[in-house]
Amino acid sequence: MEKLNIGVIGCGFMGRTHSNAYRQAPKFFDTTYQPILKAVCARNEERVKAFADNWGYESYETDWRKLIERDDIDAIDIVAPNHVHKEMAIAAAEAGKMVLCEKPLGLNPAESQEMVDAVEKAGVPNMVWYNYRFVPAIALAKNLVDSGKLGRIFHYRVNFLQDWTIDPNVPQGGEGLWRLDVNSAGSGVTGDLLAHSIDTAMWINGPIESITAMTETFIKERLHQETGKVEKVGIDDACAFLARFKNGSMAVFESTRYARGHTAFYRFEINGENASVSWELPDLHRLSYFDQNDDSAVRGWRNIHVSNNDGGHPYMENWWVPGIVIGFEHSFIHGVYQFLKSLEGGDHERQFPTFSDAMETDKICAAILESSKSQTWQNING
Ligand SMILES: NC(=O)c1ccc[n+]([C@@H]2O[C@H](COP(=O)([O-])OP(=O)(O)OC[C@H]3O[C@@H](n4cnc5c(N)ncnc54)[C@H](O)[C@@H]3O)[C@@H](O)[C@H]2O)c1
Repeated sequence: MEKLNIGVIGCGFMGRTHSNAYRQAPKFFDTTYQPILKAVCARNEERVKAFADNWGYESYETDWRKLIERDDIDAIDIVAPNHVHKEMAIAAAEAGKMVLCEKPLGLNPAESQEMVDAVEKAGVPNMVWYNYRFVPAIALAKNLVDSGKLGRIFHYRVNFLQDWTIDPNVPQGGEGLWRLDVNSAGSGVTGDLLAHSIDTAMWINGPIESITAMTETFIKERLHQETGKVEKVGIDDACAFLARFKNGSMAVFESTRYARGHTAFYRFEINGENASVSWELPDLHRLSYFDQNDDSAVRGWRNIHVSNNDGGHPYMENWWVPGIVIGFEHSFIHGVYQFLKSLEGGDHERQFPTFSDAMETDKICAAILESSKSQTWQNING
């Protein structure tokens, strides 16, 4: 196996999922490259050292620029808050490193364009971590749509619901809570949650041509942890938008952090001429499927347990025995596998979004924010 030295920037929620994924991917999937946890970087030395020890990194840094300068790093993985993605990604590309970046790519399409230009100019492999593509049940939904089983698609329907910011005493800023600070996050549920749904939707159902949106900020001011002052909240707490896809289908997307009772409820449903599919995050190993062509005596929604290892269910032949499930963390393992496979060349079809693909999602997010302000329909890409 050829070694691929990874330098990870950030050791929070995603730092953990990615570190785990780099360790597991070559154990379960055949790849030419073996990721080596060469170094992890975060600003707090005590924390980053403990993180490095726990996950088995060979070294750590407290300044991301030093990490990028190192000759012994092949790929930089950015798992820090959104507002630092651009600077880190461009510096990494300019240093000739492969760049993997968490989503959304930039704070806005202008930033994303600079990032795309940097990786393309440097000619370095790049990927954005829209990990829901790598959930086996979602990959199966795409296979079913691609196979034509659903026929013409009429509807795409999405909810992405949470309830963790209802309390006005939840502060903004700082670890985890940078999501509530518009300067760090760029937007609220639009870039944090809907970006995932938009990437999944365009991957399965093709490009979005136009949208119209409304957003709301229910809690207008919150204590900022970094300044110690009560400050205006600049993010969208909730967002609903309508979309038209290029294939003629129409969509309804809704996301909020104010849906009491829903901690992380991502659901989508696709209705086609012949069949429908639906999927929900709390039961992520299941795919619901309804086929009008079934015999009427047994026609109804099937609840497919996505765990067959005979090739019918994506990724599952590399895991346990039929009937045994995998979970959220495996989507990142599959992401690493897909990235490593792409480095080998060959005819393996790329399943992950590049920077350029992810910029399309950023354009939709920007159009949503603009539409909500101007109360107009927005055409994407002119
Ligand atoms: N794909 C997914 O499902 C998913 C889920 C959650 C978050 N994300 C994305 O992952 C990224 C990180 O989110 P998170 O939830 O892990 O955040 P987090 O707050 O848990 O962790 C962020 C980490 O970045 C580090 N950091 C911040 N600024 C830094 C700097 N200047 N230099 C070095 N390190 C720095 C922090 O110390 C912390 O370790 C965001 O872009 C977010 O949108 C993706």
